[in-house]
Amino acid sequence: MCGIIGYTGPRACKGLILDGLERLEYRGYDSAGIVLLEDGALVRDRTVGKVADLRRLVGDNGSPATLGMGHTRWATHGGVFDRNAHPFLSNDGRIAVLMNGIVENYVDLRAEVVAGGHTLSSDTDTEALVHLLADAYEGDLVEAVRKVYPRLDGHFAFLALARDEPDRIVAARLAWPPLVVGKGDGEMYIASFLPAFLEQTRQVQHVEEGEIVDLRPDGARFWPIAGGPARERAVEEADATIEVAEKGGYETFMLKEIHEQPRAIADTIGERYRDGELHLDGIGLSDAELAEIDRVLIVGCGTALHAGLVGRYLIEEWAGVATEADVASEWRYRKAVFDPRTLVLAISQSGETADTLAAVQLARERGARVVAITNVMGSAVTRVADGVLYTRAGLEISVGSSKCFTAQIALMTLFALRLAQLRWRLEPARIAEIGRELERLPELVQRLLDDAAMHAKVEQLAREFSTHRFFLFLGRHIGLPICQEGALKLKELSYIPTDAYAAGEMKHGPIALLTDETPVVAVATDSHVYEKIVSNLQEVKARGAAVIAVVTEGNTNIHEHAQHVIEVPRTLPELEPILAVIPLQLLAYHIARELGLDIDKPRNLAKTVTVE
Ligand code: AGP
Repeated sequence: MCGIIGYTGPRACKGLILDGLERLEYRGYDSAGIVLLEDGALVRDRTVGKVADLRRLVGDNGSPATLGMGHTRWATHGGVFDRNAHPFLSNDGRIAVLMNGIVENYVDLRAEVVAGGHTLSSDTDTEALVHLLADAYEGDLVEAVRKVYPRLDGHFAFLALARDEPDRIVAARLAWPPLVVGKGDGEMYIASFLPAFLEQTRQVQHVEEGEIVDLRPDGARFWPIAGGPARERAVEEADATIEVAEKGGYETFMLKEIHEQPRAIADTIGERYRDGELHLDGIGLSDAELAEIDRVLIVGCGTALHAGLVGRYLIEEWAGVATEADVASEWRYRKAVFDPRTLVLAISQSGETADTLAAVQLARERGARVVAITNVMGSAVTRVADGVLYTRAGLEISVGSSKCFTAQIALMTLFALRLAQLRWRLEPARIAEIGRELERLPELVQRLLDDAAMHAKVEQLAREFSTHRFFLFLGRHIGLPICQEGALKLKELSYIPTDAYAAGEMKHGPIALLTDETPVVAVATDSHVYEKIVSNLQEVKARGAAVIAVVTEGNTNIHEHAQHVIEVPRTLPELEPILAVIPLQLLAYHIARELGLDIDKPRNLAKTVTVE
C-alpha cells in the first residue's frame, strides 16, 4: 500500500523522485520521505503528511544527486510519526532501505538487531531490514540482499542503496507487492507502479515474485532469489500515456473518473458482445467446463464486492446457477464448500488486495477453478488465477472507486449472460435484447452525466444535507448492492456515518434510527420490487425522515413518497443499477466537497490494500 520509486542515471534526480511520489501518492499518504546520495553521503528527509509537505521540507534547491529513492507511506507497523516514515538508514549511514509491504517476523528480527548492537529509532518492521543489510554488507549490495532476503517472512517489495556503490539500486520482491522497472536513455527507474515514471520513459520490465533486481544506469539484471543465473527480461512498450495520470481539466481524479464511465463501460464490453455472440477470451475455462459450473462463489472487498453482489443477482436470474458473494477476508476463514463444478470469481480493481489474493490462493489449494476480474494488466491476482477477465476502465487513481465499479458490473453482466447462453437458460432473442441494451449503456450513462438538471439537483442536496450526521440507504434486490456502494462512497469521502439496508429489513431494527434529521437515500428504479420499496418509503415518511429517491425517468408517482427525486434513464431493470449508482457517486462527491475534504485521498485509506 505504500508507493516506492528509485532512480539511477546521469540526471539530478530529486525532482524526478518527488514527481514520481506524487503520482504514487494514491497508494498511501500518511507520510513521505526521500534519500539522495549527495557528496558521498546518504542524505535522508522525511515527514508526516503528504508529498507536498515533503516537497516543502526539502525545497526546490538543485540537489546534484543522481542516485536516490522515495517513499509514500500507509502506516502498518508503527504510528504516523516522522520516526516511522521511510527511508531508513543504518546506524553507520552506509545503507538506506524503503519498503512496501510487511515483514511478518519483524519482532524477532528487531530483537536480533538490537542484540547485535544496533539502535532502533522507529517502531517499524522495515528498520530491522536496514540493520540486517548493514551487517551483511561487504561491498556488494546484491550479495547482502541475497543473504538477508531468506530471513524475511511476509510480502514486500523493497529498494536498497549503499553509500559506497554510487550508481546502484538493489530491489527485491516477495509475494504480491508490485515492482516495475523503467528503462530510459542511460538511466533506470524502479517503482511500485508505472505512472511514477511514465513521463520519462515507456520502456518497462516487470519484476517477478521472488526476484532480486540489480539496477545500474545502463540496465537491470534480474536474479531468482533461489539462486541460478540472471534471467532475461523483455523490455516492453507500455501502452498507457501520461494523460491517464493527469486530471485533464477536472478538479479531482474522482470527478474525472466518474465522467470516464461511458468509455470504461464501452471499452469493457468492447468486442466481447457481437451480434448475439459473447466472447470472454482469457477466462481460462472451455465452454464445456463453463456449462458444467453449478455453483459460483464471488469474493472481493469494498466496492469490488458490491459489484460481485450485483453479479450474484444476474447469475442466479439469468443462468440459474447458485451464487454467493462474500467479503474476501471473511470467506477465507469460513469452511466454504467446494466441488469440482464450483467456480470462484475474484474481483479486484488493483489485483493486489491481500485479502482477495489470500482467498484466491486458498480456493486454488482446495481445487476450485478461479477467474479473476481486475483492471490492472499483469497484477498479482492474474498470476494466481486460472483465467482473467480484464475490465478496461483505464487507470483509476482516486482512492474512491467509481469507473471500475461500473466496468466490473458490465463485465459481470457479460459473464452471467455467457453462462446463461451455455446452459441454455435464456432464449437467443432475450440474449439479443439484453445485448442491445448493454451496447446502449455507455450512451445512457453519457446522457445522465450530461444532464445539467441532475447535477444541479445533486449539488443542491449536497448543500442541504452535508451537515447531517447520519444517512440511511435503502434498496431491494439488485438495488441493494447499489445502496451499499452509495453508502460506502459517502462514508469514505465525507466521513459521515452511513448504513445500507435491505429496505424490507429496515423495520427489524434500523427504523429506530429514523428521525426528521435522518436523510434516507433509496434506489427505487423500476423493477418487480418497486411497489415493495415504495411501501418501505411510506414507513420512512411516517417517521418524518426526508427521502431522496433515485428512480427511472418518467416516474411521476414517486413524488408522493419522496421529497427529493433524481431520475436516471430507462433501460432493462437488470441494467439500471449501473445508472443508479452515478447520482450516488456524485452525491458523495459533492457532500465531501461541501465539507472541504480531500476527495481523492480520504483520511486513513489507500488505493491498494496489500495488507491483510
Ligand atoms: C472503494 O472506493 C474503496 N476505496 C475500496 O473499498 C476498494 O474497493 C477495496 O479496497 C478493494 O480494492 P480492489 O478492488 O483493488 O481489490
